[in-house]
Amino acid sequence: EPCTSTEGPGEERDESWICVGSARSFGARTTLSIHNRIVLLLRENSKWHCLDAICYHAGGPLSQAAVERVDNRVCLRCPWHSYLIDIEDGHGLYMDLSRRYRSKGARQRVHKVRQDGGQLFVQLCARAESVASDEYAFGAQLPPQVLR
Ligand code: FES
Repeated sequence: EPCTSTEGPGEERDESWICVGSARSFGARTTLSIHNRIVLLLRENSKWHCLDAICYHAGGPLSQAAVERVDNRVCLRCPWHSYLIDIEDGHGLYMDLSRRYRSKGARQRVHKVRQDGGQLFVQLCARAESVASDEYAFGAQLPPQVLR
């Protein structure tokens, strides 16, 4: 469904917010190309999230990852080598020797999503320091979904 808004959400005229289309037109997971960046838009517990679609470790397709709750975090478990990625902050998690989950810090770039008037808007993360997932964000290893 085409986007009907030409402005940012709410009163803002902020071009960093990109209208990606009607919220109703998206399923639980959609892979999108925004300014050539491959991102995954996902709905989890009625909340929208957006993060780089290709796993920072070796390019696995997070569109096919299972959702797992780890401690208080909601994570994607990459289908390729089972790495855990928090969908809120993009932290990579690992289990330490005492079998506690620990964070390796931000590994997957996470973008903001807002819904306004039925439309979804994404603001790509502008953080200047590189994040491990940047390596694959513009790459050719795309998951087998239709990009829009
Ligand atoms: Fe995702 Fe290896 S590519 S865990």
